[in-house]
Amino acid sequence: MTSLDTMPIAEPFELPCGLKISNRIVKAAMEESLGTGDNQPNEYIYRLYDRWAKGSYGLLLTGNVQVDERYPGLMTDLMISSKEKTDIEKWKRYADVSQSHGTPTIVQINHAGRQSPMGKRPFRQPPIAPSPIPMSMGDSFIARTLQRIVMPKPKEMTVAQIEDVVRRFADTAEIMAKAGFAGVEIHGSHGYLVSSFLSPKSNKRTDDYGATPKDRMKFLFQIIDAIRAVVPRTFAVGIKLNSSDFSAGGLTEDEAKDQFQWIDEHGGIDFIEISGGTYESPAMAGTEYIPRSERTRKREAYFLEFAAKVRNTTTIPLIVTGGFRTRKGMNDAVRSNACDFVGIARPTCLQFNLPEILLDKTLADEHARAIQYEIRGTQLFNLIPINAVGSGVTTLWHNWQMHRVAIDNCEPDPRYNVILNEIDALTTISHARVQTEVQLKKNVELTFCLREMLT
Ligand SMILES: Cc1cc2nc3c(=O)[nH]c(=O)nc-3n(C[C@H](O)[C@H](O)[C@H](O)COP(=O)(O)O)c2cc1C
Repeated sequence: MTSLDTMPIAEPFELPCGLKISNRIVKAAMEESLGTGDNQPNEYIYRLYDRWAKGSYGLLLTGNVQVDERYPGLMTDLMISSKEKTDIEKWKRYADVSQSHGTPTIVQINHAGRQSPMGKRPFRQPPIAPSPIPMSMGDSFIARTLQRIVMPKPKEMTVAQIEDVVRRFADTAEIMAKAGFAGVEIHGSHGYLVSSFLSPKSNKRTDDYGATPKDRMKFLFQIIDAIRAVVPRTFAVGIKLNSSDFSAGGLTEDEAKDQFQWIDEHGGIDFIEISGGTYESPAMAGTEYIPRSERTRKREAYFLEFAAKVRNTTTIPLIVTGGFRTRKGMNDAVRSNACDFVGIARPTCLQFNLPEILLDKTLADEHARAIQYEIRGTQLFNLIPINAVGSGVTTLWHNWQMHRVAIDNCEPDPRYNVILNEIDALTTISHARVQTEVQLKKNVELTFCLREMLT
């Protein structure tokens, strides 16, 4: 049977909260890096999401929105400082634009934890984490030096700080419900705060937030319960989780499987999105970090085998994200019943209407696929002996594509060369040309890092 005979990715689906989703193609979360001075939604965000809104996705997941402006992943993330200081009208407009063509939009909410290099906090104040264990950027001298500067040892969180973060997740979810979004997704993967509580490598606590593998779930359960207490029953609450950390001493697949079962038993979750890796070992970017079997390679998606293994341990709907590029691969994944949805991130920065191509029955399978592209100028960066530099450059390149659309009002350009673009950015700083607020902030971040390195 070819995937044209049946098209599982074209089928509708209903989440446990009652949210109706018209097809199985999900635009996965990608931080847009478009936050300006107040880090609230702005014209750039609206223009970007207007494009995805028209793209016939079943569901849109936004880039991560930080629940605490002191500990973001990037200074250009969208952030919530407090319920009182939030301009709800800006979030309402974001919800309106992204859902203007009927596609529900779910906001990913996050706290970067030990992976927060800087934020709206006093200069040199370290980030916070379950235990005082810094993120490793690699074993080379350069990596260790940079780590001390950019990702210093975090401070172990007190119980009061844990409770404060739980409240912030709930406040942020409440704001998103009031703004009119269809739900929130707790970012529980990639080594950020929630993920670092779930991992035995970064959570060495001896209290009931970490003494046993199940205790490591307590922080997440408190967040789920706090959110559920303040949002309507029809509001979707999902979570993105690691199938494994892909690093020595980190979360294993067996432990992750237990976590899926415990979440199922706990309740309150409408979907789980499966990913993997951290910035120590960025498996989510599909690099050499994942020991992939021949079968997985054929199935193209990185975490599909794990999804098939956990499928019977939970009744919660599953999204698998990472590596999906062809309609055949996506249809086969849903048809095999390993997952209910396929998440796609990077290609959607170049093809905002990708689902229209994938769902076009007049196209043969070999043409119903995402654009194939090679990012020019990355070879040099791959030689730098620092974890995540290669995947970081790839992320940056996709951010530039989003910025072409959002800031410059142009079409994406797959021919962009990483090195030439960096040189251009640096000359922009030195010539002090008129810059957008976003570019200015990015340049300030770069200058800050350089200054830190020199002092
Ligand atoms: C520019 C960029 C930003 C990203 N930001 C996020 C994010 O905010 N939250 C998240 O969970 N994953 C983020 N990711 C990871 C993607 O959601 C996804 O897991 C990964 O790219 C693999 O999917 P793909 O192969 O379809 O690109 C980001 C990826 C890229 C390229």
